[in-house]
Amino acid sequence: MMKLFDVYSIQNIEIARALGSYVWDTHGQQYLDMYGGHAVISIGHTHPHYVQKLSQQLSRIGFYSNSVHIALQHELADLLGAMSGYDNYQLFLCNSGAEANENAFKVASFYTGRKKIVALSGAFHGRTSLAVAATDNARIIAPVNETTNVIRIPFNDVAALTSVMDNTIAAVVVEGIQGVAGIYEPDTTYWTTLAALCKQYGALLIADEVQSGYGRTGRFFAHQHHGVVPDIITVAKGMGNGFPVAGVLVANYLPPVKEMLGTTFGGNYLACAAAIAVLEVIETEQLMANAADMGAYLVRQLQQVAGISVRGRGLMLGVETSHLAQHIRMLLLEKHKIFTGAASQKNTVRLLPSLGVTRLECDAFIRAFTGVINSLES
Ligand SMILES: Cc1ncc(COP(=O)(O)O)c(C=O)c1O
Repeated sequence: MMKLFDVYSIQNIEIARALGSYVWDTHGQQYLDMYGGHAVISIGHTHPHYVQKLSQQLSRIGFYSNSVHIALQHELADLLGAMSGYDNYQLFLCNSGAEANENAFKVASFYTGRKKIVALSGAFHGRTSLAVAATDNARIIAPVNETTNVIRIPFNDVAALTSVMDNTIAAVVVEGIQGVAGIYEPDTTYWTTLAALCKQYGALLIADEVQSGYGRTGRFFAHQHHGVVPDIITVAKGMGNGFPVAGVLVANYLPPVKEMLGTTFGGNYLACAAAIAVLEVIETEQLMANAADMGAYLVRQLQQVAGISVRGRGLMLGVETSHLAQHIRMLLLEKHKIFTGAASQKNTVRLLPSLGVTRLECDAFIRAFTGVINSLES
């Protein structure tokens, strides 16, 4: 019997169905999903509009190669451009966050003719060759991925950034808000200095919005809270609400060259249908405003619990306590049937619920979280 290549640490739970912010296991037990399946569930599980759009598309055509005109790709690009405020950018469609970043690095390198990528401490950019080299985790960088082309500098450190910039740098890559690290956001001074230095040295600014984008922080992209305009922006996760789809938004002064990039599955009909449905729901249900409101509510309520600090924006939050997050998460799951996320910062619980999460669902989480903290401190 073929076994799975056993690389994931898993909970012994089998999820059979899902709706909105809830999932149910094979025994019918309900769970509140404050983890959004790892920041992927943007509009809620099995949203009816999404299900209808994908099902209809599947019965028409699911796939043809990028050798023909696919109108849905243009429809998606138009909608994404309008909703994100980047309608003068170009969209390259691919399949995962790592692939989006890999292609962003390539565009930067092709365009500048340079090899060096600057990345921050704590960064996570994915697991393909250069994306993983730009990721700050030696355990997942295979010897073949080691490269001198990535320069690592401390997070949010203007002096370190200034000292490393020169005209060998192709790009600086920064997450809108660092997710895997434990929800850390570069401040506005950092963003604006970064944008200015990139311009000065002819390097490109790549914003990795794979986790922080798509409305999660209350604006379409997290970097938009700081008034900067990156040259390249990468998206994935929430883009397809679970359907694998990702994108690279490329400024219009970076011209495409035929065959420069490519991928078999990128921008297929189903991926486009899923991504269009997501944007339509974000707009009609005003999910960015909901993310801002519910996020602010969660922060206000959680900050009242003694000994807790909360980082992040909208529905991308890190809740740090003096207890191990692993323990808190286990109690939340086993006693309260709530999924939450982990982070590299061992005391931080990561919250990444659907952007449609309701006040009642937030209240249920706050009650459970408070109960868990009180039980650990009594
Ligand atoms: C900021 C960021 N970039 C890139 C990735 C990689 O995305 P994927 O797992 O879809 O390749 C992730 C995944 O967690 C991420 O959080």
